[in-house]
Amino acid sequence: VPTMGALHAGHLSLVRRAKADCAFTVVSIFVNPAQFGPGEDLSRYPRPLAQDKRLLKNSVIDLLFCPSAGTMYPQDFSVYVEEGVLSKGLCGQLRPSHFKGVCTVVVKLFNIVLPDRAYFGQKDYQQVKVIERMVRDLNFNISIKTVPIVRETSGLAMSSRNAYLNNEERRKALVLFSSLQYAKDCVAHGARKPGVIAAGMRRIISAIPGVKIDYIEICDADTLVPVDKIKGTVVIALAIFVGKIRLIDNIILKTTP
Ligand code: PAF
Repeated sequence: VPTMGALHAGHLSLVRRAKADCAFTVVSIFVNPAQFGPGEDLSRYPRPLAQDKRLLKNSVIDLLFCPSAGTMYPQDFSVYVEEGVLSKGLCGQLRPSHFKGVCTVVVKLFNIVLPDRAYFGQKDYQQVKVIERMVRDLNFNISIKTVPIVRETSGLAMSSRNAYLNNEERRKALVLFSSLQYAKDCVAHGARKPGVIAAGMRRIISAIPGVKIDYIEICDADTLVPVDKIKGTVVIALAIFVGKIRLIDNIILKTTP
């Protein structure tokens, strides 16, 4: 179970799944510098290691791996892993080197830990798709397990970055979930035009002062290509800024022909 720490109920659900499936469960905590772009939140990313250790003690895992940045990236580190298609859209537009950093560290963790299965949260849907493609294309003998998003009772998806939100921002951040619920209702009532649904989501989000949209995309759930009609399984993914804090969320919708 690779993580960047600041563990929350979402991470713990990954750990629970791993423990239920596997004879030996390794959790890693490593805030991976390679996946943060210039000007992003690497230096302020929460690192509550003592608290994380306490939480993991309750889940009784077999091994906790917390390497240092120097161990993972020696001074003359020079080999990176890059996925060339799925990582380009959605979050890849604003964060062009993010998935290269993710793929590189995940490959390193795979090679160090040699797992049979690896667990990732659906909250980072694009990340899961990129890693699945990497595992397929580079012939890793590892099964990638995706675990559903864990939400607070308010609907806010669990994220380590929620720690940056004050009370007012937290309230504003609920628009991620409410706009996705709106989209889900539209589809349930027969709407099939992505443009119309996205425009409705945009309207809902734009009504909240201090919230800016990075993207709203309705894509084929496997290829991540934006669809021109909703059919089969689609993912509706969005990223917004609440003040300076960037948050993402998504929903997967299955339609029957
Ligand atoms: O999802 C995350 O927390 C990170 O991107 C991961 C997979 C641990 C790689 O650093």
